[in-house]
Amino acid sequence: MSFKTVFALVSLAVLSFAMPTKRAVCSNGRTASNAACCTWFDVLDDIQENIFDGGECGEDVHESLRLTFHDAIGFSQSNPAVGGGADGSIIAFSDIETNFHANLGTDDIVEVQRPFAIKHNVSFGDFIQFAGAVGVSNCAGGPRLQFLAGRPNNTFPAQDLTVPEPTDSVTAILSRMGDAGFNPEEIVDLLASHSVAAQDHVDPTIHGSPFDSTPSAFDPQIFVEVLLTGTLFPGNGSNPGEVLSPLPGELRLQSDALLARDPRTACEWQSFVNNHDLMVTRFEAAMAKLAILGHNARDLIDCSEVIPVPNSATSNTASLPAGFSMGEVEASCDTAPFPTIPSIAGPETSVARVPPS
Ligand code: HEM
Ligand SMILES: *[C@@H]1O[C@H](CO)[C@@H](O)[C@H](O)[C@H]1NC(C)=O
Ligand SMILES: *[C@@H]1O[C@H](CO)[C@@H](O)[C@H](O)[C@H]1NC(C)=O
Ligand SMILES: *[C@@H]1O[C@H](CO)[C@@H](O)[C@H](O)[C@H]1NC(C)=O
Repeated sequence: MSFKTVFALVSLAVLSFAMPTKRAVCSNGRTASNAACCTWFDVLDDIQENIFDGGECGEDVHESLRLTFHDAIGFSQSNPAVGGGADGSIIAFSDIETNFHANLGTDDIVEVQRPFAIKHNVSFGDFIQFAGAVGVSNCAGGPRLQFLAGRPNNTFPAQDLTVPEPTDSVTAILSRMGDAGFNPEEIVDLLASHSVAAQDHVDPTIHGSPFDSTPSAFDPQIFVEVLLTGTLFPGNGSNPGEVLSPLPGELRLQSDALLARDPRTACEWQSFVNNHDLMVTRFEAAMAKLAILGHNARDLIDCSEVIPVPNSATSNTASLPAGFSMGEVEASCDTAPFPTIPSIAGPETSVARVPPS
């Protein structure tokens, strides 16, 4: 090594020691790796207080998480005309997109979010993904999603029929999601979102009926409860996209029921039953893909540090609801036995609705 090289290396070392990476100073004494992230701390404070009711995991969180999907999935790897992906077009062109059948009910959260995005002068595409990431961090055991900022605001309406429907076959769902870049396992990974979810429009007579018994916890209950033998309809009989559910008050989507039992997806589905941490890790990875559909990560700025750290899960394992036995689990993975899980003692209970917020 020449003297010059040694000198260069030493001065580099001294320099980097003497000049620690400068962090941008944001509001309320917070700092960010990039000054462009500061604005997101202000958005965070505003939406936690004024959309998510002080940091809850309620209806507005569920709707915001759903919106991340319905905006982003307007995308095709083979046909750019289908849509711009996670581009905010569902807000910018809400008069078109919220009228698509699969988007029924998204108009509420679109109108809730719109003025906040405008007020903070951030793009609709960024806002939707940020609100979903912040929202789901409020759920017990939730993921800490990556958040990259900088999606442009100019966009065009997505075409209809990009969002899967609960009446679709597994083959149709795999094909549409595959066209957007997701393999069968990643579809199941994304469906961890249905652990914090309820419906208003499949059976409109029972607004707020959840898909599992713990809709404010990001836990693996959904992955067990969808596999239990169905016996009842929670509301006014059978509706398109709905199949028999195991628990009063709980609504089971036909698509969830089929994906849980199909040989192409059943093993990924079952793998989360006793592994909350795996469910979270896989969800984070699949959401990182979803959130930047139509964009290149290199063009965006990593502001993930703004996303709050969620409370940890109470358990890594789902439970068999009270009143159920292992004989009622329709285990569907051919290559792994269904895991042993604890049972909740006592008589069968009904599942409470998610109140409107
Ligand atoms: C196979 C694909 C999927 C189908 C067929 C599907 C279908 C549905 C349906 C029918 C509802 C009820 C809407 C209502 O009646 O109000 C719903 C709710 C929901 N979905 Fe999905 N979904 C799918 C994938 C996803 C993905 C990938 C995400 C997010 C990453 C997601 C997040 C949610 C959430 C959070 C809710 C609850 C909304 C609320 O409680 O207000 N879904 N989904
Ligand atoms: C709002 O954002 C746009 C685009 O990022 C920028 O050109 C404009 O100057 C901003 N306006 C204000 C009032 O900050
Ligand atoms: C994004 O576009 C909408 C119109 O669709 C506009 O109202 C909003 O101010 C724009 N936001 C930014 C950050 O440019
Ligand atoms: C329940 O369904 C029946 C027939 O399917 C229909 O006639 C009735 O109006 C429905 N009730 C409500 C409250 O929607």
